[in-house]
Amino acid sequence: MNNTENNSQKNEDTSERQSFFHLPKILKIDFDKPVPFKQQFAFMGTILAISCLLFTVVYIQQLISGNVASAEDGSTTPAASDEVSENTASDNSSSKEEDVNPQKPQKKVTKISIAGADILNKMTTVEKSPEDIHKGPLILVNKDYSSVLDGENITMLCDEKSDSYVLSDNTVGVDAEIIPHLNSMLDDFASLYGETDIMIACGYRGYETQLSLYDDELNDNDTEGNQLVAPPGYSEHQTGYVFDFDLNLSNGGKAGINYDGQGDYAWINNNCGEYGFILRYREGRENITGYLFEPWHFRYVGYPHSEYIEDNDIAFEEYMELLHKHNDEDAILMEDHEGHKWCIYYVEGDEYDTTNVPVPANYEYEISGDNQGGFIVTVDLDK
Ligand code: DAL
Ligand code: ZN
Repeated sequence: MNNTENNSQKNEDTSERQSFFHLPKILKIDFDKPVPFKQQFAFMGTILAISCLLFTVVYIQQLISGNVASAEDGSTTPAASDEVSENTASDNSSSKEEDVNPQKPQKKVTKISIAGADILNKMTTVEKSPEDIHKGPLILVNKDYSSVLDGENITMLCDEKSDSYVLSDNTVGVDAEIIPHLNSMLDDFASLYGETDIMIACGYRGYETQLSLYDDELNDNDTEGNQLVAPPGYSEHQTGYVFDFDLNLSNGGKAGINYDGQGDYAWINNNCGEYGFILRYREGRENITGYLFEPWHFRYVGYPHSEYIEDNDIAFEEYMELLHKHNDEDAILMEDHEGHKWCIYYVEGDEYDTTNVPVPANYEYEISGDNQGGFIVTVDLDK
């Protein structure tokens, strides 16, 4: 072998070694010659390595985009969901989403998490009296908490109602605050279903009226009496924030209340939360509310509280228990299905003296008594 052949052999060896490590050389395949085994092996190995790399990149991208999507969706942070999972609301909301009800279009439900400390950074205070603890749309009235309101701020509905419904008589009154919401709900109902038999049978009741109803119910020897009518002083009807529906049927209907929230009327029971109302005595919550299921009895608590309670199918008692766990330092951040946000927190009240309620300096807010010894502040983060 001469020097030239020797050099050329060396070059070939070097070329093969280089081709094993350098991709561009591998791709230079001369199809007229049999491809050396090392080259074939290197080529296949490289293709396999590139495929694995591509697969890994795509997989990681999908993982990342999945997380981003759930964050944009408004999902709670892990820390926040731990906090709120103490409440049955989270569990109920997922099962509720599985329900298929044609009259309640499936939508994203109201969500809660914990507000970041920076949201309410500029605070001031507002003075509230001990009486204020017992006033406002979030007062809890049940067998344990009596109604202190008795006829305050009551307006006769016959003067203010829309044409979408009728009244059992001209003495039906409710708290003036709820009338625009009631009219709006029944106007929307009428625009969907036309003229119906919907009637408001009862709104505000004074102490004497409640006493007489209670006595009648107990005298009926009805063992369920105290689960249908509240003792005088302990009825929500004494607040003015509630009303009972009935149907104005031409044949008089059956004895008692004819409204059952079924058929077309299911729209009202399914959508009342959007208008600030809740179904106060819910089916399945009898042991918490202390009363039997009443599909006709609606309570005003205000939006977004109403929407959260309805979306999660919980009793007002359960909702108030949840709010009481969060003061202004770990306020609840609530977001409705349209992305509107509120910050909600509890402030312990002074039963005998003025309470300085902390409120944000840079947002609009509402303060309601809870009738349990404190106040609930609802801050509108979009105003
Ligand atoms: N029916 C309800 C419980 C009331 O009497 O207030
Ligand atoms: Zn009622």
